[in-house]
Amino acid sequence: MRLNEIKPENCLDTMKMMDDAFVDLVVTSPPYDEMREYEGYKLEDFEKIASDLYRVVKDGGVVVWVTGDQTVKGNESGTSFRQALYFKEIGFNLFDTMIYLKPPRGAVGDNRTYWQSFEYMFVFSKGQPKTINLIKDRKNKESRKGDSGTKRLPDGSLYQHNRGGYEEYGRRTNVWEYMIGNGHSSSDKIAHQHPAIFPEKLAHDHILSWSNEGDLVYDPFLGSGTVVLMAMLNGRNYLGSEINANYCEIAKERLRRSRPSTESRTKESQTCVSKETQTHEQLRLLET
Ligand SMILES: C[S@@+](CC[C@H](N)C(=O)[O-])C[C@H]1O[C@@H](n2cnc3c(N)ncnc32)[C@H](O)[C@@H]1O
Repeated sequence: MRLNEIKPENCLDTMKMMDDAFVDLVVTSPPYDEMREYEGYKLEDFEKIASDLYRVVKDGGVVVWVTGDQTVKGNESGTSFRQALYFKEIGFNLFDTMIYLKPPRGAVGDNRTYWQSFEYMFVFSKGQPKTINLIKDRKNKESRKGDSGTKRLPDGSLYQHNRGGYEEYGRRTNVWEYMIGNGHSSSDKIAHQHPAIFPEKLAHDHILSWSNEGDLVYDPFLGSGTVVLMAMLNGRNYLGSEINANYCEIAKERLRRSRPSTESRTKESQTCVSKETQTHEQLRLLET
């Protein structure tokens, strides 16, 4: 199967063409309940899609499943939990339940509840993840070098031990907050023609966390192409499936506009995300 393509089709058809253990990382967000229809397309065949994902993901590969629940008459669907438990039933390990925190917007949920402000990011792995590159950008209260000392044990003897130090920055928490909407989720105006994009930085951060350069990243529900764009810009191979031809065109256009600048952006993005986004924007301005 050729890599680095967008497939204008049902993800089930794309996965049929993949060998077993083909993909290193899946980052995706399926349609949620009946919240949006994507011009007629909603999530169908969830069980079959989940089983195919299990087949095509490598041992140690990861699936990041970003989802939420619809509330009808004060009753949440619970679909996200049902899906998470189904992934476990078919063999995936639930490595972490992460939260995608975003500013509350619009009439999400029920106005008698607290204002809805997050979605789940379930991180499943086939066995234990083979790649873990934790992002360390949370400033510790203090930094300290490691040292060694002695400690007296209950029997009076002295025990020599090493105390670990703290770096200036430690690993993040598993709650990731992103601004959303125009100019935040993506600086691509065309991306916003899709009704439900997730932030480029969210895709970027998962791609860096659970894959290495040269790995294959797949998004079965590609939408406007956020995941393949971030994969390409970070030196990963990619594949994406999108059933809606109009959205496919948006995704292809986003890739086309960014392609010439891939090399320079890859180096930047490994070190600093915000700087990377800025460079991306500058290069685009030069292009137009
Ligand atoms: C929540 S959106 C994904 C948005 C994407 N994360 C982005 O940033 O643009 C889900 C997408 O899945 C597509 N879709 C629904 N069923 C599909 C299927 N079986 N195969 C491929 N795409 C599908 C819909 O058309 C919709 O664009």
